[in-house]
Amino acid sequence: MTYNIALLKGDGIGPEIVDSATRVLEAVGKKYGHVFNFTPYLIGGSAIDATGMPLPEETVKGCLASDSVLLGAVGGPKWDTLPGNQRPEKALLGIRAAMELFTNLRPAKLYPALKGECPLREDIVENGFDIMIVRELTGGIYFGERGMRQGQYGEEAYDTECYSRMEIERIAKVAYETARKRRGNLISIDKANVLESSRLWRKIVHEMEKDYPDVVCKDMLVDNAAMQLVRNPAQFDVIVTSNMFGDILSDEASQITGSIGMLPSASLGNTSRGLYEPIHGSAPDIAGKNIANPIATILSGAMMLLYSFDLKAESDAIVNAVDKVLAAGYRTADLAHGGEYLTTTEITDKIIENI
Ligand code: IPM
Ligand code: MN
Repeated sequence: MTYNIALLKGDGIGPEIVDSATRVLEAVGKKYGHVFNFTPYLIGGSAIDATGMPLPEETVKGCLASDSVLLGAVGGPKWDTLPGNQRPEKALLGIRAAMELFTNLRPAKLYPALKGECPLREDIVENGFDIMIVRELTGGIYFGERGMRQGQYGEEAYDTECYSRMEIERIAKVAYETARKRRGNLISIDKANVLESSRLWRKIVHEMEKDYPDVVCKDMLVDNAAMQLVRNPAQFDVIVTSNMFGDILSDEASQITGSIGMLPSASLGNTSRGLYEPIHGSAPDIAGKNIANPIATILSGAMMLLYSFDLKAESDAIVNAVDKVLAAGYRTADLAHGGEYLTTTEITDKIIENI
C-alpha cells in the first residue's frame, strides 16, 4: 500500500524528531512492503517567519488531502510576545479544528526499563501502570467565547467553558469503546461540584452506561484526580475528560512515566485521517543539538500505523523496537543523568536496527 503523510515539523526540536520518525516509518515500509510519501508543510513559528501566518491555508489543504499527519512541535521564545491569535500555538488549535479532531488519545505507561526514572516511591509503582487518557480536543474553554472588556474594576478578560450534548456524546462514545477494548474501567473526570458544564458532562456520560454493560464507569473530580494520579496511578485504565483538564492531567501523567520525551498522542475525528504528535513541546533550549529524545514522535508514528492505517503488526514492530532499545540500556540525554547517552540520530539508528 501507498500512504501519503503530511509532515508538520514545526519549531525547535520539531524538525529533528520528525526526521527520526520518518526514518523509522521508512524502515517499517521497507520491511513490510509499504510506501510512505512524505510532504512537508509549514506550521507554527517557522510558518510565521516564512508567510506571516502560523497556519497557512496551504498547510490546512495539504493536511486535509493527506492520509494522515505527523507533527513535531510548535512555538518558541521568538514568537512569545505576539498577540494570542497570531501565536504559533494558535496553529495547533486551528489544525485540530480544521481536521475536526475531537478525540485526543494520550497513552501513559511505565516502561519496565525506565522504572528508575519514575519520581514516585517504588511501592506505588511496583505493578506499573498503563493509562489511556481520552481528552476532548475541539471544544470547551479552548474554543469557547472569549474576550476583553471594561468591568467595574477596570479591564477584564474572560474565557468560557461550554460543552454541547453532541460534543460530550461523541467523546464519551470513544472513551467507552476504548475501555471496552482494554480493561473495561472508565473514569470520567470533571468538576461537577462547581461547573454546570461538568454536570451536563457527567449526566450524559452516565446515560450512555447502559450501552456498555461490559464497562464500569465512575466519576472523579479533577482535583482528586490530580492527587490520585500520583497516589495510585494503577487504579486508572481509561480516563475521559474535557480539553483543559486533559491537557493538564496528561502532563502530570507524562511525568510519572519518567520522561515527557516518551509520550506519543493521536488526535482523531470521524475519518481515518488523524494527527499524530508527541505531547511534549518544541524544547527551544536544546533545538539543533541532536540531543532531543525522538521516542515520543517515533511512537506517534506507531500510533498512526495502528489508528489511521490499521497496520497492527507494523505498529507493534516500532513499539517492540523501542522496548528493546530501552531494555538494552540505551538512553537519550534526558534519561542519562549526565552519563553516557546516544544522540537523536544514534538512538533512531538503534531503533531502526531492531525493526
Ligand atoms: C498540548 C499543548 C497544546 C494544548 C498547546 C500548545 C496549545 O499543550 O498539546 O498539550 O494545550 O493543547
Ligand atoms: Mn499540553
